Amino acid sequence: MYLTKEEEGIYEGEEGWANQIAMRILVKLGDLFEADRLIPIDSAHISGVSYKTIGDAAIEFLEALANAGAKSKVRSTANPAGIDYNHLEEMVRTPKLHERQARIIELYRNMGINPILTCTPYYVRRPREGVHLAWAESSTVIYANSILHSWTNREGGPSALAAALIGKTPNYGVHKPENRRADVLVKVETPLREEVEFGALGIHIGRVLKDEIPSFEGLLRPEETHLKHLGAAMASTGMASLFYPCVSCPKSSDRLETISVDMDDLKNAFESLSTTDASPDMIYLGCPHCSVEEVRRIARKVKGRKIRDGVKLWVCTSRYVRRKAEEYVEIIEAAGGKVISDTCAVVTWLKELGVDVLMTNSAKTAYYAPTMNRVETVFASLDQCIEAACQE
Ligand code: F3S
Repeated sequence: MYLTKEEEGIYEGEEGWANQIAMRILVKLGDLFEADRLIPIDSAHISGVSYKTIGDAAIEFLEALANAGAKSKVRSTANPAGIDYNHLEEMVRTPKLHERQARIIELYRNMGINPILTCTPYYVRRPREGVHLAWAESSTVIYANSILHSWTNREGGPSALAAALIGKTPNYGVHKPENRRADVLVKVETPLREEVEFGALGIHIGRVLKDEIPSFEGLLRPEETHLKHLGAAMASTGMASLFYPCVSCPKSSDRLETISVDMDDLKNAFESLSTTDASPDMIYLGCPHCSVEEVRRIARKVKGRKIRDGVKLWVCTSRYVRRKAEEYVEIIEAAGGKVISDTCAVVTWLKELGVDVLMTNSAKTAYYAPTMNRVETVFASLDQCIEAACQE
């Protein structure tokens, strides 16, 4: 990969150890994927924030970087952590975990990374079309490429952090127009209306296409929320970081291979996401983190009702959206639900809260929770989730 004189200097350590390490990570990655050069980025979004998922070795690395004066050169934000410090009564009560998590957040803050602690940073600030980003968190990446039309590879936590410190990323993958073409035309032969149906479609397509880019035909005027669930699910079972939600995608000179998705495919994907039919201890909404509109929709459904004894209702979103949606938050909390920020059911210590059965409208959570949280899952529509959460 070609480096400018200045970049070479950073590689040799002229800007100190932290930037040298960051540059070496980027060059390794660039060489591996045959990038021609580094390109400037508009922003970075860093995953690997929850202590539950990264552990002590990662803290040591972050400490070393921060001590060496690491500072982000571009606007940078952080993914959810493991604790909501404003809802400690809902969180695991282990002081060591609280202290370690707080240290991680502090280290990122010291490096100039804004701890907005959400996987939907685009609700806080929407990047412009066509800008290059270095974003981690697969659901965030696929949303950026497919819905916002910004350009980002699917970064890992370390490469997104390295890109933040240098302000650049290697030019490969979907940063190049020729790699953004659709590979497969997917004809959806059954009308989809709810986010769970879009989630089931994403799970199915990720399994079938792996890293190939689909262009969907037959999605009838989908809302951005529907596409958010489609992308998050697709990026869970597959590796693609881009899809085209309609037929108006860039013209390809090749005739695309075509596959069809029918009701049976969706039913199978849907059913594969439940591991039990037992009653849930927790109903979890907000993976990926809710928009204001989603919080409003939930509030309308629980208004004037009461959450069942012994059942938790968690609605997860960013602090930013929580503030914007204050009147709906009050309705949900008056019913006995909790609007949680800074974390989510997957990256917190769920089992330790006594949760054995989790019900969710998120295909991504239903896919990951049995392994990441060791809980049984019930995948169900928003209405079914609300009915299970509320008293008669
Ligand atoms: Fe976000 Fe947690 Fe889901 S980080 S995408 S809410 S698993």
